[in-house]
Amino acid sequence: MTILVTGGAGYIGSHTSILLIEAGYDIIVFDNFSNASHESIKRVEKIVGQSITLIEGDIRNRTDLENVFSSYSIDAVIHFAGLKAVGESVEKPLSYYDNNIYGTMVLCEIMSKHNCKSIVFSSSATVYGDPHTTPIKEDFPLSATNPYGRSKLFIEEMLRDLHISDSSWKIVLLRYFNPVGAHSSGTIGEDPNGIPNNLMPFIAQTAVGKRSYLSIFGDDYDTHDGTGVRDYIHVMDLADGHVKALNIIKNLSKVMTINLGTGTGYSVLDMVKAFEKASGKKVPYQIAPRRAGDVAKCFADPSYAKKILGWEAKKGIVQMCEDSWRWQANNPDGYKGKSI
Ligand code: NAD
Ligand code: UD1
Repeated sequence: MTILVTGGAGYIGSHTSILLIEAGYDIIVFDNFSNASHESIKRVEKIVGQSITLIEGDIRNRTDLENVFSSYSIDAVIHFAGLKAVGESVEKPLSYYDNNIYGTMVLCEIMSKHNCKSIVFSSSATVYGDPHTTPIKEDFPLSATNPYGRSKLFIEEMLRDLHISDSSWKIVLLRYFNPVGAHSSGTIGEDPNGIPNNLMPFIAQTAVGKRSYLSIFGDDYDTHDGTGVRDYIHVMDLADGHVKALNIIKNLSKVMTINLGTGTGYSVLDMVKAFEKASGKKVPYQIAPRRAGDVAKCFADPSYAKKILGWEAKKGIVQMCEDSWRWQANNPDGYKGKSI
């Protein structure tokens, strides 16, 4: 089976590509490298011991996609490509609607034309907005507070409409909680541009000495220690969720919406302590005001993923921190450092 992996050079796409190849799939990575480097794919090739078909192109460009679909017989698409920074989406909403929504429209149009109607889409727990209770189940109310979140919500709706119009589409919407960690080799990992927005890369860069201290956004939330609680999930567990989604996709008769989280919430301070233990480094921090748009607690009820996909997260907080640290310590400048 041949899988097109859009955004396959990025953080989650590169880790998922490894498991897809190990599971026996042929993959084609399609990426415009707006937030990735060729080095990540070189390193994936080294891990899997084979070369990867890589197409540089943009999902908004019909010709780029036409070339791929007419050159290869593609059975399914795992669709990671898109922009993902919440703050940037507030400043540049049109870029987010263009890349994420319009890009997905063009992708689905070309897929349909080539009779490839199976897609696994990267959605996010952000679609739950500020949940009334936790753990969060898939049928909780949906809302968005920023253009990034709205793009995910709208794409989910668009894919549901597509299925209503043509039930031969097979669609899995995977709602990720907070992906962290890296491949155990320490050769690939998350490589944010500039100052990291997300907690784990910020902690890792502080531990390695690139940042002087972590700002903890609020210590007066209604949580066990006052800092925000999230469901951190190891990126290799997340990657495995995609392989499991492909296992069931052929037999689907309805759009499946599935949370991928561990079901356990950790606070910012829990993460700092776990990271200090895993790295043997101090992570200095200061308490700062709350970040606009943050919620107190967000963690999944992952039981539907277990029931439908036979999937559950296996890696805990220790492995998440150890693997993030290995990647950060070996690659303090990410992929911009030395080539391997
Ligand atoms: P990433 O930025 O590392 O990967 C996205 C990849 O898509 C990059 O390689 C980028 O170059 C590529 N890309 C962007 N726009 C493109 C376009 N128009 N055409 C072709 N390629 C394009 O991000 P990631 O963390 O790997 O996230 C993958 C997906 O998962 C995204 O859709 C993201 O919104 C979603 N997601 C991520 C998180 C997270 O915390 N990382 C959480 C929930 C959902
Ligand atoms: C953020 C995005 C969300 C996206 C998710 C995964 C916002 C408001 N939400 O979620 O849409 O789906 O990333 O990419 O940006 N924290 C600090 N200091 C830091 C960074 C974070 O204290 O320097 C805290 C946050 O307040 C939060 C926790 O760490 O309590 C996790 O933050 P983060 O990694 O940014 O993820 P989310 O806020 O869950």
